Amino acid sequence: MRTLAVHGIRLAYVDEGSGPPVVLVHGFPLDHAMWDAQVEALKDRCRVIVPDLRGFGRSDVTEGTVTMEQFADDVAGLLDALGVGEPVVLAGLSMGGYVAFQFFRRHRGRLRALVLCDTRAGADTPQAAAVRRETAENVLREGPDSLAENMPDKLLAAATLRDRPELGESLRRVIANSDPRGIAAASLGMAERPDVTAMLPEIDCPTLVVVGREDAISPPDEMRRIAAAIPGARLVEVPDAGHMSPMENPAAVNAALREFLASL
Ligand code: MLT
Repeated sequence: MRTLAVHGIRLAYVDEGSGPPVVLVHGFPLDHAMWDAQVEALKDRCRVIVPDLRGFGRSDVTEGTVTMEQFADDVAGLLDALGVGEPVVLAGLSMGGYVAFQFFRRHRGRLRALVLCDTRAGADTPQAAAVRRETAENVLREGPDSLAENMPDKLLAAATLRDRPELGESLRRVIANSDPRGIAAASLGMAERPDVTAMLPEIDCPTLVVVGREDAISPPDEMRRIAAAIPGARLVEVPDAGHMSPMENPAAVNAALREFLASL
């Protein structure tokens, strides 16, 4: 992977293919690799840019709290550093979707279209925010092993866990190798992320909403509500997939992405 200096840190990123730029933003607590199948599928027609967000993968870590706004500004800074001036298609999964909402809010002029994948518009309840703070404390104290052990069961559909155990294993490895300070900072950032429900009707770029039919974290009902609130948004429900739909059913997600990109 290459790295570039952005806002005083090094950000690692994949940059493959040529054509209209597409940026893929990973979920928590993962890295660029969750989008590998989409890089392969899109690089013949697009320039696919996939960062490791601050604190994850091979990017530098900053301690404390990293907000969704900061991540969105980092993506914009990476595009500046790469010299990408034209508007991009930005896809974000889950936490990556929270980042995508903030990118829309803060960098609208740089956005050609949005893909919101297995994500949520609402803020955390006080209880959910407390769990995030607990996660941050635990991971700083004990490291990422228990998160690595437990999280894949929530991220993947039951059938994926049964039939493709290698996917669970690869997620486990990524989480276990993550820097606890990066995980904690993003967890604290998610706890204070704003509710963007009221912003959804203002989203005025082409938008694709994608959800795994078995997603237990951002369930289809919630994603249907997001799609219904965004003018003209398309919704694709992905069979045989949980929260990690791009990894669990790449054929369906890639087909939806290709069709969406061709429609722009
Ligand atoms: C993610 O996949 O990014 C997380 O599930 C997001 C979250 O915990 O809200």
